[in-house]
Amino acid sequence: MDSYLELSHVTIDFPTPNGPFRALDKVKLSIEKGEFISLIGHSGCGKSTVLNIIAGLHQATEGGVILNGKEVSEPGPDRAVVFQNHSLLPWMTAYENVELAVKQVFKNQKSKEEMKEWIEHNLELVHMSHAMDKRPDELSGGMKQRVGIARALSMEPKVMLMDEPFGALDALTRAHMQDSLMEIQAELNNTVIMITHDVDEAVLLSDRIVMMTNGPAATVGEILKVDLERPRDRLALAEVPEYNHYRAEVVRFLHERYKNPEAEEEADSGSDVDAETAMASEEKAEVQDKQKKEDDAPVLYAVND
Ligand SMILES: Nc1ncnc2c1ncn2[C@@H]1O[C@H](COP(=O)(O)OP(=O)(O)O)[C@@H](O)[C@H]1O
Ligand SMILES: [Mg+2]
Repeated sequence: MDSYLELSHVTIDFPTPNGPFRALDKVKLSIEKGEFISLIGHSGCGKSTVLNIIAGLHQATEGGVILNGKEVSEPGPDRAVVFQNHSLLPWMTAYENVELAVKQVFKNQKSKEEMKEWIEHNLELVHMSHAMDKRPDELSGGMKQRVGIARALSMEPKVMLMDEPFGALDALTRAHMQDSLMEIQAELNNTVIMITHDVDEAVLLSDRIVMMTNGPAATVGEILKVDLERPRDRLALAEVPEYNHYRAEVVRFLHERYKNPEAEEEADSGSDVDAETAMASEEKAEVQDKQKKEDDAPVLYAVND
C-alpha cells in the first residue's frame, strides 16, 4: 500500500548521561494526501518528537519516514512547521516574514510581481491583509499565529506540521483560528498533522485522531476516525450525538486507558477526570509552558528555529 506519508516503525533513542533514552518505539502511521490528522497524548509522550522526525529535525534510530515516495532525511520546504510560539522575525513586517519564505521557495519560479501577488494571497487566506505592514510586536498573539500559518501555506508544502499552534491563545481567539484553519483546509485540501492537547479541537478539525501511549517508548495507541460531515460547525456539533461519542472516546483513552502519569502521582486529590478541558485555556497554556520547561529541562532541541 502506497500512502502519501508513511511512518514505518519509527524508533528513536536519545543519548542521555544515563545511556540511551527510548522516546518512541515502532511508531507506525500511514497518512493520505489531504488528510487532517491530530496527534494527541499526555505531555512528554513524544508528540513533538514525531513531528520533528517528519520535519527532518531529528533522525529516527530505526525505521523512517517516506513522503510521496521519497525518504525524509533533512528539513525541507515541502514540510512547513508552525509552532506554538510564532517564530516570526521581529524586525520584519508580516508581509516581509512571508516574503522571506516565498523567496526561498519560489525565487527561480515566480517573477517579482507573481511573488507579491502570492504573498498577498496567502495573507488574505488567513485574514491578515489589513495588517501586513505591521511588525510582530504590533500584532496580537492570534494575528502572529495567522502570519505563521500564512508563511507555512505560502511555501505550498506537501505537509503542514503544526505543534500546538493555538496552545497559547485565549479560548475565543483559538475558536476563530480553528474556524479559519477549517476554511483554508476546505479550500486547499492540505495534508496536515497537528499536535493538540485539546479534545474538542481534535474532534472538530480532524479526519483521524492518533492517540499516543505514554512514554517512554511511546507509540500509537489507538486511531479514531472522525466521520463528521464537513463543513463542520462547532455550535451545531455540540448537539450531535456522534460528536459527543468521538469526544468521549478520546477522553476515555487519555484518562482511563492511558492516564496522565504526572496526574497519577498526585492522585487522591479527587482530581477531575477531564480537568484539562475544563481549565481555562490561558491557565492551561501557562501550565503547559511551565510543564514544558520542566520536561525539557536540560534538553534543548530545535523547536523555535
Ligand atoms: N533531544 C532530546 N534529548 C533527550 N530527550 C529528549 C529530547 N527530545 C525529547 N526528549 C524526551 O523525549 C520525550 C518526548 O518528548 P516530546 O516529544 O517533546 O513530548 P511531547 O511533545 O509529547 O510533550 C520526553 O521524555 C522528552 O524529555
Ligand atoms: Mg511537544
